[in-house]
Amino acid sequence: MNTLATYNIKGGVGKTTAAVNLAYLGAVDGRRTLLWDLDPQGAASYLLRIRPRVKGGGKALIRGKTSLDEAVRPTEFDRLDLVPADFTYRNLDLVLDAAKKPTQRIARLLAPLAGDYDLSILDCPPGISLVSENVVHAADTLLVPLIPTTLSVRTLEQLDGFVAELDHPPSLLPFFTMVDGRKRLHREVIDDLRTRRGDLAAAAIPALSLVEQMAVHRAPLPAFAPRSRVTHSYQDLWAEVRDRGAATRR
Ligand SMILES: Nc1ncnc2c1ncn2[C@@H]1O[C@H](COP(=O)(O)OP(=O)(O)OP(=O)(O)O)[C@@H](O)[C@H]1O
Ligand SMILES: [Mg+2]
Repeated sequence: MNTLATYNIKGGVGKTTAAVNLAYLGAVDGRRTLLWDLDPQGAASYLLRIRPRVKGGGKALIRGKTSLDEAVRPTEFDRLDLVPADFTYRNLDLVLDAAKKPTQRIARLLAPLAGDYDLSILDCPPGISLVSENVVHAADTLLVPLIPTTLSVRTLEQLDGFVAELDHPPSLLPFFTMVDGRKRLHREVIDDLRTRRGDLAAAAIPALSLVEQMAVHRAPLPAFAPRSRVTHSYQDLWAEVRDRGAATRR
């Protein structure tokens, strides 16, 4: 099983949108896919029409009283399952802090499912917390959505620093999102960063109000707007994720 996580210290940058669309595209591409909504806000669960509830809450999972398997729910799409959010995830840091090896709990919960899925995607809440440290530990690749502004580029550099200190750092796949081609600053930030780092995805996701309609349709973009250019850019991004070998390791 290959584990990806959408990750950014910043909030509202398109983590959940990418997690849901890439999970859907992975499943369409034949991967048995598990999406874990780790954000107590439950946006990914909402978008896939699953009630945000885990029996016993996050505490039971972290303490090993509930297995991850018991929390899995099928979605209406073939090969795509979800571990829903639970409002108790807001206290996950406290529960993790009290656990043994507190940065490895999420990886350990995923391990028994390695034979059941080809791909798992973790949708992480924003910020730096024990939850995000767990996610960084569990993921083979961090997909990092970046809005093309100078500040986002700085947060990416902070993430480089954080990841570099780990024994087994995940690979980073930063990609631009909410790109407005009419804004000169967006074009400049993108061009500049492309000259400075080779790990950026070639695919970039445009800013389009259609994306916000995912919450109206409660569905991934390819399911209700298969011909939109934003759907095509997520398809390109999925192809890059897959071709970088990220979808086959482990
Ligand atoms: N390419 C895009 N164009 C326009 N709007 C977008 C785009 N991508 C995401 N959005 C919108 O921006 C908002 C934030 O996106 P999303 O929830 O994916 O971000 P997030 O990083 O998961 O946020 P949080 O940190 O709160 O978890 C949503 O309303 C979403 O519909
Ligand atoms: Mg989110």
